[in-house]
Amino acid sequence: MSPFTYKNNVLCAESLALTDIARQFGTPTYVYSKASVVDNFAAYANACKAHVAHPDDALICFSVKSNSNLAILQLLSQCGSGFDIVSGGELLRVLAAGGSASKIIFSGVGKSRDEMRLALTHDILCFNVESIPELHRLNAVAAEIGKQARVSLRVNPNVDAMTHPYISTGLKESKFGVAFDDALATYRIGAALSHIDVMGIDCHIGSQLLDDAPLLEAADKLIELIDALAGEGIVIHHLDIGGGIGISYDGDQPVTVATYLEKLFAKIHAWRNGKYEGKPIKVMFEPGRSIVGNAGVLLTEVQYLKEGEAKNFAVVDAAMNDLMRPAMYQAWHGVEPVTPRTTPAVTYDVVGPVCESGDWLARSRALSIEAGDLLAIMSAGAYGMTMASNYNTRGRAAEILVDGDVAHLVRRREAPAELFALESLIR
Ligand code: LLP
Repeated sequence: MSPFTYKNNVLCAESLALTDIARQFGTPTYVYSKASVVDNFAAYANACKAHVAHPDDALICFSVKSNSNLAILQLLSQCGSGFDIVSGGELLRVLAAGGSASKIIFSGVGKSRDEMRLALTHDILCFNVESIPELHRLNAVAAEIGKQARVSLRVNPNVDAMTHPYISTGLKESKFGVAFDDALATYRIGAALSHIDVMGIDCHIGSQLLDDAPLLEAADKLIELIDALAGEGIVIHHLDIGGGIGISYDGDQPVTVATYLEKLFAKIHAWRNGKYEGKPIKVMFEPGRSIVGNAGVLLTEVQYLKEGEAKNFAVVDAAMNDLMRPAMYQAWHGVEPVTPRTTPAVTYDVVGPVCESGDWLARSRALSIEAGDLLAIMSAGAYGMTMASNYNTRGRAAEILVDGDVAHLVRRREAPAELFALESLIR
């Protein structure tokens, strides 16, 4: 159930009116529901619990890139989550939020030496390595500081995730991962390196998958490789299937987490029981969007209603720099009036103040609104604030985490002078 519902004709986050949040903290503001984040994580955790004999046989690593606010990371850490990171910055965030390094996996095609050193120093759980040169670099950095690097290879299973091309990552054309046909040879190289400990296998075929079939197909490909590696004496201890299931933006019906995990674990148990006398393999997940996406909205105020020659525009105070997804992927986000009116609706494009025609948040929406009204841009909890920029010297939005009827300010609004505080005039 959505944490954003109308009570007495006012849209609320849990039991707090969004009008109160706007009054207290201003707009544009991201608003997240604590209960919703906790529930969404529990969907994965409970499904894992139902299908593994020992808690250590499954690990959910929240994908930090989807929402990296410290309070969100703190909350998930308290729920027992591990973390999937893609930079040294994300590593430091997780640690600052109280996350445990022993549950961190480090993904990404371009890890720098400094990032490797930092992650090795903190003894993270595993590096998801994406190429042979990266294996060699990691081995060298680990040798320099006298550490062993635990490694999983990100294999590209060449499965079509059937999602937006920009967020589809498992095909041959993709920059990500090691090609399926090169995987065995790459593992052999890794296994021979003195400061690399081969631990696992992973993949990530794409994001916003509504169907689990491509994920299950990818699991089959990984299983095939694990068997082939076992034949060569290379033991794989964990299987990481990558990101989570997609979410509903405009009424799409994604498969439920419970159904997907039931099928995945059934496949894995049948395979282990057939070939490995039931000895479990640790199963790992890197969900982001399905944990936070529908737990957040972007709250914005209508500034002007403008009648164009061909279109009507609702100019709001949030823009593409706050929420990039529409401009970048033509993504659809619901737009809900916070205090609905009964006057006849007019069709508007909802646009921001940024000087780009691509600066729109929603197109052709029937809305009954007036200047000064508040709108909630729905499903904005994932890849919203994390992709925000300061384009047009716009300070990034405030972030609020709602718990019942209490609003916690978890990131204050950036002040304009802070945006150029790191810059200098020349003499
Ligand atoms: N693991 C890896 C290696 C990833 O690259 C991603 C997302 C995830 C996990 C998390 O996937 P999720 O559970 O969120 O589907 N900015 C785009 C999405 C980019 C996704 C990138 N990778 C958007 O706004 O739709």
